[in-house]
Amino acid sequence: MIGIVGAGQVGSTLAFELFRRNLDDIALVDVVSGLAEGKALDIAQCGSLLGINREVVGSEDLTVLKEADIVVITAGYPRQPGMSRLDLAISNAQILKNILSGLASLKISPILVIVTNPLDLMVRLALKILSFSRERVMGMGGLLDSARFRYYLAKKLGLSLTDIQGMVVGEHGDRMIPLFSTVGITFTNSELKKEIVENTKNGGATIVKLLGKGSAYFAPAVSTALMVESILKNKGELFSVAYLAKGEFGLEDVVLSLPAFLNRDGLKPAELSLSWEELETLRKAAAEIKNFQDDFLRNF
Ligand code: 2OP
Repeated sequence: MIGIVGAGQVGSTLAFELFRRNLDDIALVDVVSGLAEGKALDIAQCGSLLGINREVVGSEDLTVLKEADIVVITAGYPRQPGMSRLDLAISNAQILKNILSGLASLKISPILVIVTNPLDLMVRLALKILSFSRERVMGMGGLLDSARFRYYLAKKLGLSLTDIQGMVVGEHGDRMIPLFSTVGITFTNSELKKEIVENTKNGGATIVKLLGKGSAYFAPAVSTALMVESILKNKGELFSVAYLAKGEFGLEDVVLSLPAFLNRDGLKPAELSLSWEELETLRKAAAEIKNFQDDFLRNF
């Protein structure tokens, strides 16, 4: 069973995307009375139309997750215009803590995929609260940022979105690093490069501003669904995923998005060969992210 905590825009869109992929039964949980149950029923009623025979249940109670092999956490406040993801840290950390203590009392050890922002910090916090191995706790950020990178690359270069490559690592925030070395095209125009980087970094904020209320959910939901599918189907796909670095790229004890293969056991770190400049930028970003994470965890 796949568990999803948080039946807001991301959680419910994810539930529908996973249902369409026909991977497993789904349990959706939200503290708002009737919300998860209503969304679950709506999705379940698509079954005969889509030819999918899966259970979808909704509840206010985490106990519906007791059979879950994987739990995605999307619950939390979304960004509003003018807010950075880090502005959500204290309020969402408290929400995450409550959810994790609820999961711990069920005595289950599912693979955790965290979507709640600021997600790098949330992954680090989850690892501190639970005694799960780092392979089983990950965040969805790098894949979404990579999708945005590829979108702007394709638009600027006039290429098809179906052929474009490109990975983003680092923070799901200002310190994200689009890796041009993964695109497979030589860039000579540094202005164009700069523009693509800026567009990618502002990818989420642009949507927040346009919506006026809440943040993006289609691309976040699809990115998460791809991660869940790779795990449940043991596909071993290579994605940029937020996890606790333990030596990869020379980084230690910091959570940020880095390449990893996703399979039934969780994540398996993968080392790509980056350019010297990318590696320097990554190490500098990681040192700043680590300082922030260490400080936050010390005081939380
Ligand atoms: C985004 O970047 C919600 O963090 C998510 O759109």
